[in-house]
Amino acid sequence: MPASTNHPRTLDGTLKPKPLRFALVAAISFIAIAVLSACDAEPRKTDAELGLNPQQASGRRVYDARCGDCHYAYSKRNLRGPSLNGLFKKPFMQNGMPANDERVTDIIILGRAKMPAFQNKLTQQQFDDLMAYLHTL
Ligand code: HEC
Repeated sequence: MPASTNHPRTLDGTLKPKPLRFALVAAISFIAIAVLSACDAEPRKTDAELGLNPQQASGRRVYDARCGDCHYAYSKRNLRGPSLNGLFKKPFMQNGMPANDERVTDIIILGRAKMPAFQNKLTQQQFDDLMAYLHTL
């Protein structure tokens, strides 16, 4: 096998790694990291695994349909809007407002900056369910 002499050996330090090979490895690592972080997360948990009661579970469906494109519920990472993980567990939201029902209701109903207003887009029942779910995050 005469061709084998063309393979650079890098571990013993006598041969330099080929720049092209290094670039390829770097590119593959980059893609792997990008793919891994894009799917961000564990598999989706069921309502039961999350311990949601029926109202909270319906709120989760409202969230998935209306909020999930812009907000992560179980990751601290921001999406198009801030993460809502632990929304009511800390004293303030990322925007500096107190994290309470009144302020959160205002944001959902009136919208804020690039977030659309949901006035007239949710029934009272959907809104109540959604709030119940947000309190579980
Ligand atoms: C089109 C994207 C989009 C959708 C859909 C959306 N939001 Fe937002 N949301 C945002 C953005 C952007 C902000 C940040 C606004 C700002 O600049 O203060 C935000 C801010 C918030 C905040 C304040 C968070 C903080 O920590 O400052 C809450 C609470 C919130 N959204 C809840 C919701 C809920 C609940 C829904 C679903 C009913 C929803 N959002 C739907 C984009 C969205």
